Amino acid sequence: LIDEVYYYTVVDSTNQRAKEVAKPKTLFIAERQTEGRGRYGRRWMSECGGLYFSITLPRDLPIEDVPKLTLTTGVAVAKALRARLKWPNDVVYNGRKLCGILCELFGEIEDPMIVVGVGVNVNNPTPPNGVSLKDIHGREFNRLEVLKDVLISFERYYFKLLNGGWGEIRNEWKHMSETLGKDVVVRTAKGVYTGRALDLDGDGGLILDVGGKIVKVFSGDCFYA
Ligand code: BTN
Repeated sequence: LIDEVYYYTVVDSTNQRAKEVAKPKTLFIAERQTEGRGRYGRRWMSECGGLYFSITLPRDLPIEDVPKLTLTTGVAVAKALRARLKWPNDVVYNGRKLCGILCELFGEIEDPMIVVGVGVNVNNPTPPNGVSLKDIHGREFNRLEVLKDVLISFERYYFKLLNGGWGEIRNEWKHMSETLGKDVVVRTAKGVYTGRALDLDGDGGLILDVGGKIVKVFSGDCFYA
């Protein structure tokens, strides 16, 4: 899946580097980021000791599968780190965020490229509401080993998704989910929904019971009520 690696001691954002270089099948990795970004334009704390990388994908995944890709990446990372998932794709441990995933489209509108950005709290200072591998296990981790485990898992799940394995991945997501069965508040572009998370839909949306009415949300920010 990866032909070339760009390594930085410090960089603005590995997703940003990926967009500028715009070469498929490339890994961008940094010791720290000065402009690490999260979903909805938020900042991603990127101090030394964490793992910050982005991968540009080959042009073989249909663009309409990107929502599935973000969930698939979550499954791959959660599996590698023995953690759980919060919809849509936060990798969490006891409700605290261990890893964030930011999939973005860029380049030409008719033929966009996909970058998958992953930030894992490893030995870095714990961000607010976050948790690191060091916090969980009480020891420092070799980041190269963590990177290797995550990449092997990502490659496996990426090819599974490409080869018709979405149904299986979706089941794994459900088993690793911390969100299903919980009362949640989901903030979307269309509004705020408060209800019980019932299921993950076939297209990656979250199915909610909002006061007896079934509602499906596609993307948004999810909080526990
Ligand atoms: C989120 O949870 O909001 C997503 C966070 C994604 C952070 C990673 S760190 C590597 C890559 N470069 C960035 O600027 N962001 C992603």
